[in-house]
Amino acid sequence: MTSEAPASVKAPDGSFVEKPWTLGPSAAELASTPFIKRVFTRKRISRVLPHILAFIGIALGVLQCVLTYVNVNKTMDHSALCLVMEEDFSGGEDAVFGAGGTFWREVNMDGFGNGEFEMTTASSTNSYIKNGILYLAPTLTEEEIGSNDVFGVDGAYIYNITGCTFNETSPNGGFIPDGKGGTVFDYGGYYAACSATANSTSGSIVNPVQSARISTMINAQSGSGNASTRYGRVEIRAKMPTGDWLWPALWMLPVNNTYGPWPASGEIDIVESRGNGIEYTNHGSNYVQGALNWGPIPALNSVQKSLSWWSNKRTPFSNDFHTYVLEWTTSFIRIYVDTRLTPLLEYKFAKPFFETGDYPATVINSTTGAAQSLKDPWADPETGLPIESAKGAWAAPFDQEFYLIMNVAVGGTNGWFPDGQGNKPWLNQDTHAMRSFAEAKEQWYPTWPENLDDRAMAIDYVKMWKHCDGN
Ligand SMILES: *[C@@H]1O[C@H](CO)[C@@H](O)[C@H](O)[C@H]1NC(C)=O
Ligand SMILES: *[C@@H]1O[C@H](CO)[C@@H](O)[C@H](O)[C@H]1NC(C)=O
Ligand SMILES: *[C@@H]1O[C@H](CO)[C@@H](O)[C@H](O)[C@H]1NC(C)=O
Ligand SMILES: *[C@@H]1O[C@H](CO)[C@@H](O)[C@H](O)[C@H]1NC(C)=O
Ligand SMILES: *[C@@H]1O[C@H](CO)[C@@H](O)[C@H](O)[C@H]1NC(C)=O
Ligand SMILES: *[C@@H]1O[C@H](CO)[C@@H](O)[C@H](O)[C@H]1NC(C)=O
Repeated sequence: MTSEAPASVKAPDGSFVEKPWTLGPSAAELASTPFIKRVFTRKRISRVLPHILAFIGIALGVLQCVLTYVNVNKTMDHSALCLVMEEDFSGGEDAVFGAGGTFWREVNMDGFGNGEFEMTTASSTNSYIKNGILYLAPTLTEEEIGSNDVFGVDGAYIYNITGCTFNETSPNGGFIPDGKGGTVFDYGGYYAACSATANSTSGSIVNPVQSARISTMINAQSGSGNASTRYGRVEIRAKMPTGDWLWPALWMLPVNNTYGPWPASGEIDIVESRGNGIEYTNHGSNYVQGALNWGPIPALNSVQKSLSWWSNKRTPFSNDFHTYVLEWTTSFIRIYVDTRLTPLLEYKFAKPFFETGDYPATVINSTTGAAQSLKDPWADPETGLPIESAKGAWAAPFDQEFYLIMNVAVGGTNGWFPDGQGNKPWLNQDTHAMRSFAEAKEQWYPTWPENLDDRAMAIDYVKMWKHCDGN
């Protein structure tokens, strides 16, 4: 850039200034300046103004980079990392899903507490490996049993899923208190998880989509120590799926519910997104979110206090592979995509979670209907004081081993897809939401690429580290 401006000029107060174009004429000067000269001055201002604005823009940009850099540098994980798990899917399906494999397929039809519309299968149609890439691909259930049986139009139809994993994923193997001091098998939960009835009279249908949800839970519970982490790093290189109402997630749950049932023992969402296009009004595939879920009871999940995201203007995360990273220490959790300068979530354990939660003193017990005082689940049971993870840091419940889950859900009624956005074909309160979704297939199915590799969430590799010293 060339400029005719002098390198320095004398300012009205007698001092010399380096950048004369930042000085405007005084009101008195303007008033005494002949018209012609004033025009010239204005012209001159309009000529240099873009340069001034550009300079301010660049300066602010540099300042932001410096601040981000300083902030990132202040919260860095300087501990030595030991690799505990590495899976690059080069060994084929058996190495991944066979006996002793790194991942385990969860088979379930109950909507996972979110009213999700898919069933998850152990079929290699829905989770398969090709050229060292793992694909989690949703397909239509009608391709297996036909549309009539999905809707029960030829008479009621009961779908029994093969290899249902309800017993493995339920606490106590599915046995619940019988109210008389003993336990009884939860047949209600079992049938909801392992079968679905299509009945055109009552309006119920079989889950219209088959998809995949895989985890390291079984290995983590067996205590190998190589399928979970606590303080360290998780890195997943993945490409988000494409198609309306797809809900991909790479996330973590505690190996043991040390502080009580969900969400008391925490949940780490490394990334969640939506398969809808970037024109979708509630954040489509150009948006990736990271979050921590925690709370003393399900009704008091404080996820809104520890949720953030990165979003691109034009480029969807379904176009290409990106690296999603979790950094986790005794004093913070950071989640980012590709580099620390594109963070999804930065959360410091600066206060005990119970304090941050700012909960009511009493809550209604959902079983008894009576008011009871709310206890801090993250306090030391002996002292009643919050558990301190490090000097001035309070990590509990994020001070335990967590295992990894990767899945592609479809739809759901929990609000991840809010009503009234993007021609959503169901209402979250509707008891027949899943049927409304299935009936609108002509609307959403054309947005799902025909080629499963393009439709699926694709995962290139997963790596997990722990701090070598365990803390
Ligand atoms: C399993 O984890 C231990 C440390 O917990 C580590 O020494 C070992 O190398 C890991 N094994 C594999 C196969 O990653
Ligand atoms: C599923 O199981 C139920 C109960 O055992 C049975 O009545 C039904 O026919 C089964 N469904 C199919 C499609 O085989
Ligand atoms: C789950 O456990 C129940 C009760 O023990 C049993 O009847 C059922 O066969 C089990 N199902 C599977 C798939 O293991
Ligand atoms: C189908 O639903 C109707 C209405 O709720 C009910 O009366 C009938 O028993 C159901 N049929 C089966 C086979 O579940
Ligand atoms: C989970 O709890 C079991 C039973 O108390 C224990 O043996 C195991 O070590 C715990 N696992 C982890 C990862 O904390
Ligand atoms: C609700 O009350 C029952 C019966 O007193 C008790 O067993 C249960 O733990 C209470 N629930 C919670 C969340 O505290």
